[in-house]
Order: sequence, then C-alpha cells, then structure tokens
Amino acid sequence: MKKTLMIYYSLEGNTDFAAKTAAEYGDIDLERLVPVKEPPRSGFGKFFWGGKSVVFSETPPLEPLKHNADDYEDIIIGFPVWAGSYPPAVATYVKEYAFTGKHIRVIACSAGGNADKAVNKLKEKLPGNEFAGVLSLIDPAKDKERSAELIKTFIAAAE
Ligand SMILES: Cc1cc2nc3c(=O)[nH]c(=O)nc-3n(C[C@H](O)[C@H](O)[C@H](O)COP(=O)(O)O)c2cc1C
Repeated sequence: MKKTLMIYYSLEGNTDFAAKTAAEYGDIDLERLVPVKEPPRSGFGKFFWGGKSVVFSETPPLEPLKHNADDYEDIIIGFPVWAGSYPPAVATYVKEYAFTGKHIRVIACSAGGNADKAVNKLKEKLPGNEFAGVLSLIDPAKDKERSAELIKTFIAAAE
C-alpha cells in the first residue's frame, strides 16, 4: 500500500472531519493548511469575508507545512467549496508548492453538493497531474456515520 498525503483546509470542521476519517481507512498523512491570520468563524461575516477573498483571488500566507508533497505519489486535496471555487488557503498552496506527475484525488465539502466548478478550477491550476477521482460531500460533520461510509468506500477504491 502506497502512502498518501492529504492536503486540506477546513474553516468549520467538515473537511477536517473528512480528512481524519479518511486517515482511519487508508495510509494517509495529513497536512492541514492553516492561514497565519484566520478569519472569524461564525455569523454572516464569514461568508462575506470568505467570498471576497475568493473573488479577489487572495493567497494568504500559511503556517509552516509538516510534509513535502515530493515525497508522495498520491495526493488527496480536501477543501470546502467557497463561492463556487476552492478557498484561498488552497490557492496559496497551489501557487507556492505546485507539483506535477501526481495521482490526485479530491474530497470537496459543500452545503449544496455541487463541487464540479470548484474541482475544475483546481484542475486548471494543477496541469500535468492525473486527477483520478472526486468525492463530493454535503457538510459531512452533520451526518458523520453516513459520511464515514462514503469516505471509506472512496478510500478503499484506491488502496
Ligand atoms: C465563505 C464561504 C463560502 C461558501 N460558498 C459555498 C458555495 O459556493 N457553495 C456551497 O455549496 N457551499 C458553500 N459554502 C459552504 C461550505 O462549503 C460547506 O459548509 C463546507 O462543508 C464547509 O467545510 P468546512 O467545515 O471544512 O469549512 C461556503 C462557506 C463559506 C464559509
């Protein structure tokens, strides 16, 4: 079994839940992207702030990383869909540490269940990689049991 690196961002815990659950079912190291300045997590302000940061293609500085993607062939990128795209922390990662020749899977969390646009945008930013599968989850922390089943199946399909 090959080791996989899951690079992910989570503001409110859904993608974090998905990442930690994935790591229970596969040989996966977790790299949580943490912006140096984290935004407010509650209230309507988070949508305003987050939406604006996506629209303006912000790339906030991240806390130091613990893993080097060069050491892995298999990468999972996990993120919450923000304004139909991937969030700024992922934009920073892709800009600073873009890689090629990887086998990439995506776990996208959203409130509405449509991650296609966001995943396509991410693919455009990571040419030269093989995108092998996408798991789209609706707020997985709200139904942990069902989400864990979906994650288990997704991870097992590639092991
Ligand atoms: C700034 C912001 C923008 C969002 N935009 C979308 C969106 O365009 N489509 C959608 O379905 N959900 C959207 N959501 C909801 C999140 O994608 C969803 O709740 C996700 O599960 C949160 O993941 P997290 O808990 O790991 O942060 C947005 C949430 C925030 C905070």
